[in-house]
Parts: sequence; structure tokens; C-alpha cells
Amino acid sequence: MVNVRFATTDDRAAVRTVHEAAFGLTEGPEIVALVEGLLGDATARPLHSLVAEVDGRVVGHVLFTAVTMQPGDQETAAQILAPLAVLPEVQGQGVGGALVRAGLRLLAAAGVALVFVLGYPDYYSRFGFRPARALGLAAPYPIPAEHDAAWMVLALRPGVLGQVHGTVQCADTLNDPRYWRE
Ligand SMILES: CC(C)(COP(=O)(O)OP(=O)(O)OC[C@H]1O[C@@H](n2cnc3c(N)ncnc32)[C@H](O)[C@@H]1OP(=O)(O)O)[C@@H](O)C(=O)NCCC(=O)NCCS
Repeated sequence: MVNVRFATTDDRAAVRTVHEAAFGLTEGPEIVALVEGLLGDATARPLHSLVAEVDGRVVGHVLFTAVTMQPGDQETAAQILAPLAVLPEVQGQGVGGALVRAGLRLLAAAGVALVFVLGYPDYYSRFGFRPARALGLAAPYPIPAEHDAAWMVLALRPGVLGQVHGTVQCADTLNDPRYWRE
């Protein structure tokens, strides 16, 4: 059974291991740097760092961090999901889904209206994420047309889509072009 809980500082090594294993030798170190940077980044707050445990062992991690909308006169609490990873040997058993769903429940309870993600359309659409650009919500850096569908948004508050438009501005750590080449 999967147990999702808030990550603590004691989980840092396990979280690192999850991302290294899930993203591999090429991408892993960059993702670990992203996670560690975001955890210490004041502009990423409020953030939500969750781990999934199976039999007391950390097997997955997801991080949600604050974003703002530009122009900045729109009072909409929004977050971005990045990154998400599950140990390869436990993938396909619902751990990633448990992390995403727990995070979305938590964000809804915290009053967050919009959640963004840059990721696999076929995966994130199962949670209700939809292509964001067509809804007037641009990514911090232009996404190549062939990957347009990978920039997605999910509304946690009815009616918010269509009311808010603009460009998403991420935390300083995530606001780096290397994280936006899809
Ligand atoms: C993507 C990831 C987090 C999914 O975690 P998971 O625990 O395997 O996910 P779940 O068990 O909840 O869901 C599995 C389902 O998602 C599907 N899925 C997994 N990766 C997918 C992908 N890249 N695109 C589309 N569907 C995908 C599986 O086919 C499976 O489908 P099924 O339910 O119809 O059998 C995991 O594969 C992972 O860590 N990958 C490497 C890191 C990564 O790419 N992270 C996401 C960055 S956007």
C-alpha cells in the first residue's frame, strides 16, 4: 500500500536517490539540482514536497512550487508540478498517481486555483490537466509547437479558466531555460 506524506529534511537522501534512479545518469543530476535548489528558494514558497512510501521506504517524490501570473494584477494562487519521479522498480503500480492526486487534494484545500505542469500529455491528462496555451496561459519560455500539448494546466476552482490570462512566472530556480527545452 502506498502512503503519501510531507517530505522532511530527513528524506533528502532518499528523494535524491528517487530522482537519480528515475531520470537516469544524464538527466538525474540536473533534476536533483532542481529539487535541492527549489527547496531552498524563497521565491518557490509556498511549496509542497511529498514523498510516497511503500513498506516504510521512500519510492516516489513530487514537488509543487509557487508561480505567479504576469501581468501580476491577477489574484490567483497557482503552483507548478515539477518534478515527479518514482523508482523504476515500482513504476506502473499507482505510486505516481497517488502522489499527484494527494498533491492536488492538498493544493485545493490550500486555496490554489491553478496547477501547471510541463510533461507527458498522455500521463497528466488522466488527472484532468489540459493544454494551457490554448487557454491563454503561456509558459515562462516558449515551448516548441510540436510540444505544445506538454504545457498543461488544471483548474482546482470552477470558473477560473478563461478568467486568468498571461504568462506564468516560476520560482527563480525553475526560471532557467534549460528546464524548458521539452
Ligand atoms: C512518469 C512516472 C512518474 C509515473 O509514475 P508511476 O508510478 O509509474 O505512475 P502510475 O503507476 O501512477 O501510472 C502508470 C500509468 O502511467 C502510464 N505512463 C507512465 N509513463 C508515461 C508516459 N511517459 N506517458 C504516458 N503514460 C505514461 C503507464 O503506462 C501506466 O498506464 P496504465 O495505468 O494505463 O497502465 C514514472 O514513470 C517516472 O518516474 N518516470 C521517470 C521520471 C519522469 O519522467 N517523470 C515525469 C516528468 S514529467
